[in-house]
Amino acid sequence: MQKLVSKVTDNTNFYMNHSPIELIEKYGSPLYVYNEKILREKMRDMKNLVSYENFAVNYSAKANSSLAILEIANEEDLNIDAMSPGEIYAELKAGFSPEKIFYISNNVSKEEMQFAIDNNVLLSVDSISQLDQFGQINPGGKVAARFNGGIGAGHHEKVITAGKNTKFGIDPDEIELFNQTLNKYNLKLVGINQHIGSLFMEPDKYIDGVYSVLSIAKQFKDLEFIDLGGGFGIPYNKLDEDYKCLDLKALGKKLDEIFEDFTKEYGKKLKFKIEPGRYISAECGVLLGTVHAIKNNCGNKYAGTDIGFNVLARPVMYDSHHDIEVYRKSNEKSEKTEPITVVGNICETGDIIAKNRILPTLKEGDILGILDAGAYGNVMSSNYNNRLRPAEVLIRENGEVVLIRKRDTLDDIIKNFVSLK
Ligand code: LLP
Repeated sequence: MQKLVSKVTDNTNFYMNHSPIELIEKYGSPLYVYNEKILREKMRDMKNLVSYENFAVNYSAKANSSLAILEIANEEDLNIDAMSPGEIYAELKAGFSPEKIFYISNNVSKEEMQFAIDNNVLLSVDSISQLDQFGQINPGGKVAARFNGGIGAGHHEKVITAGKNTKFGIDPDEIELFNQTLNKYNLKLVGINQHIGSLFMEPDKYIDGVYSVLSIAKQFKDLEFIDLGGGFGIPYNKLDEDYKCLDLKALGKKLDEIFEDFTKEYGKKLKFKIEPGRYISAECGVLLGTVHAIKNNCGNKYAGTDIGFNVLARPVMYDSHHDIEVYRKSNEKSEKTEPITVVGNICETGDIIAKNRILPTLKEGDILGILDAGAYGNVMSSNYNNRLRPAEVLIRENGEVVLIRKRDTLDDIIKNFVSLK
C-alpha cells in the first residue's frame, strides 16, 4: 500500500499495525475508524484542565454517542450530558449511574421530563415556560437551569448558542419571574449552566462567558454547581504547517484563578463542570471512503466518492473544512498535485466534501481518509437516498480492531415502514 498523503495519521500512529485499505476490505466502505488511545488521551486532557478539585467533565455525548465510546467515557470516570431520552437511555446502557448524567433539555414534552425524573436524572430547563411545566409534574424537586449570559462564540452562526440570536437559555432579565416560578412549585435550583457555542480556538470568549455565568450565579443562594459548557476547539487544518491548538494550559490556569476568586466571594466551594464534545472525540476518528469516479465537467475536475453528506454532513451544513489523506493499493505513483472537488454519491449538487482541494492526482479505487471525523460525524449521518449508515470500528489500545457499530442493512432501510399491501 502507498500512502500518498498521510502526515497526520503517521504522526499519531493512528492505524497502529493496520492499514486503511485492509480495514476497508474487511469492513466495507465508507467506514468510521476510531483510535482508542487518542480518545482516552483527549478525555484525560479535559480531566486535567484545572487543578481545582471540585471539578467534573461532562462528556457531551451528542458529538459521538456510539455505545463503545460512551463505555470508554464511563471507564475514564467522566460525567456525561444528554440532550434527549435517547441519549439518557444509551448512557444508562453504557453503565453511567444516573447521578453522573445531566439532561440539558430544550423544548421538551412533559413525558420527556418524566422520563428523566423516573430515571433519577437531573434536568436543566431552558425557559420559564418549561420550568413551570416541570414544577407541575415534579413539585418540590431539584432542577437546574440554562441561562443566556449574552456571550456567544462558534465556528458558524448555526452553532453559536448564546447572545442575541439564539433560541437557547433564559434571559437573566427574567430572573424575578424565574424565582417566582421556582417558589410556586417549591423547586430547588441546584445548578445553572450555559454553553456559548461550539469551537473556539482562543480562550477569551470562553472566559468572558464564564464571567457572565458567574455574575448570574451570584444572584442565587446555595447552588451546588455551575456548568460552563463546552466548545473547546480542535484544529481541522493540520496539513497546514503553522496550525495552532487550543492553549489548554493558559485556559486552565485562568479558570483556576476564577474558580478560587469565585469561591471566596460566594462563600462555598461549588462544583464547576465543563461539557466538551468535539475536543474529546473529533481527533480520534477518521472516515474512510473510496473514490469511484474521476471526471471533468465544464472545466472542473471531480473525484466521485461514497462519502456523501448522508455520511458526513459537516462540510455541507457549515462549510466545514476536514483535511484529507490519500491511500492507494497499487504502486502507481501520482507525482503531480492538482485542485479537485471531492463529492459524494447523493443526488444533490451541494453534496461536496471539499471544493478545489489540492491533492495528488487521484484515480479510481483510491481510499480517502477524512480526518477529525470522530465528532459530529456518524451521529449526524442519515439514510437519505436510502443509503446505509456506515459501520464503525475501534482500534483498541492493544492494536486489536473491533466492530462497534454494524453497517445498516437494506432491511434496516425499510423495516419501520408499513406496506399498504
Ligand atoms: N453543551 C451543550 C449544551 C451543547 O449544546 C453542546 C453542543 C456542547 C455542550 C458540546 O459542544 P462542543 O464541545 O462539542 O463544541 N454539529 C456541529 C456542532 C453542534 C454543537 C451543538 N452543541 C458541528 O458539527 O460543528
